[in-house]
Amino acid sequence: MSEFIEIVGGSPLTGSVTVGGAKNAGLPLLISTLLTSEECVLTNVPNLTDTSLVIHLLEQFGGEVQYDGSTVRVRTPRLLATEASYSLVKALRASFWVLAPLLARGRAARVALPGGDLIGARPVDLHLEGLVKMGAEISLKHGVVYATAEKGLRPAVIDLRFPSVGATHQLIMAASLTPGRTVLKGCAREPEIIALANYLNGMGADIQGAGGAVIEVAGRSELGGTTANLIGDRIEAGTYLLAGAITGGEVTVNGIDPMFFGSFLDILAEMGLSVTCGDSSVTVKRTGSLKAVSVKTGPFPGFATDLQAPLMAALTVAEGTSSIEETIYEGRFGHASELARLGAQIKVDGRSVTIEGVERLNGAPVDGLDIRAAASLALAALAAEGKSELHEVHHLRRGYEHFERKMSNLGARLWSRISDPEDFIFAGC
Ligand code: UD1
Repeated sequence: MSEFIEIVGGSPLTGSVTVGGAKNAGLPLLISTLLTSEECVLTNVPNLTDTSLVIHLLEQFGGEVQYDGSTVRVRTPRLLATEASYSLVKALRASFWVLAPLLARGRAARVALPGGDLIGARPVDLHLEGLVKMGAEISLKHGVVYATAEKGLRPAVIDLRFPSVGATHQLIMAASLTPGRTVLKGCAREPEIIALANYLNGMGADIQGAGGAVIEVAGRSELGGTTANLIGDRIEAGTYLLAGAITGGEVTVNGIDPMFFGSFLDILAEMGLSVTCGDSSVTVKRTGSLKAVSVKTGPFPGFATDLQAPLMAALTVAEGTSSIEETIYEGRFGHASELARLGAQIKVDGRSVTIEGVERLNGAPVDGLDIRAAASLALAALAAEGKSELHEVHHLRRGYEHFERKMSNLGARLWSRISDPEDFIFAGC
């Protein structure tokens, strides 16, 4: 038996939705708690599979964790392990980021290489090169990174060839518990980087420049406890705004700083949508047909790759020919063939796709093969005529808290269902 979501499309979504805490900020902040023996608290933490996985990870390293579904309290009096196994890193790629805290605090770490996944190769060379510059000795054997820093890490000047989010998180964490001044150039500028820097500053580090390309870290020999409220999830927020757009409605997302969207809101305006920003809210209203656009994903403040799949869903019903170039992950178009099952006209050519807008989509069973692909297919199904079934729902559960409830509150018609094993027998499987 497995879960799927039944979606009956065709109703314009209208109303407001409050987004949860940002999953992609929660993961590094929780991992950074391994840098101190004192209690760290994080509120507004979304109740997602990825949150459970990171809590399990912290416990494996000696973290004493309490989580009530929103607030996490962690204390790690001593690091009890130095190894993150392949099964953990495979289940949660961000687990690889424990390398820095383990090295900085425990002076040794063994962490499995994340390997590739459905959306691309995803190497970690920038993480490793940065840590080597900080004095770590690193070797790779049988798919595992062995890292030691017997005399402790040392401050360094590190130039990242590409603004990798993960490498920036990793190196800020390492530098925070390394006495002296580390300078990181070519850093990722995503809001989640600022969130991590603020959290580490609360723990006693002195980090300047987060949100820009150059970050300077005055590290300490010890860090202390801290408390913070997690920022809102810009990808979840963008998904709900696009749900309003594709169904022809008007959706307000609350609990999000409009600056977190980078160029996303400009693209929505180019698509002919009316966009209104408040201090911590954004409203998007569709007044006519959606217009075709040409979009290229890029590091923040460019168009977020995590919103590429949900955007593609909306462009399937836009007037004219749209194009998307994916510059971050070479294989991130798995949703295109599933959108085609709903009647979308999409042609994939390497890192680019061309989308011929159609008048309407038609409901069908589809598989959501990663978090954002699943969200994209849910949006398309909400706009399609008739009934769809979204399968492989466990991917959606990694990134969207209370998905059906939030969508229903906007007027969507969708329900979680359990597939009957007899369906498979009759289908001859
Ligand atoms: C994070 C996000 C993910 C988002 C991505 C880009 C989390 C948990 N995940 O992933 O949702 O899609 O940022 O915004 O926050 N690269 C290298 N060498 C490296 C590291 C990265 O070549 O050492 C390349 C990757 O292959 C990829 C690109 O850089 O092509 C972006 O990767 P990165 O920014 O590191 O993404 P993640 O931190 O893995």
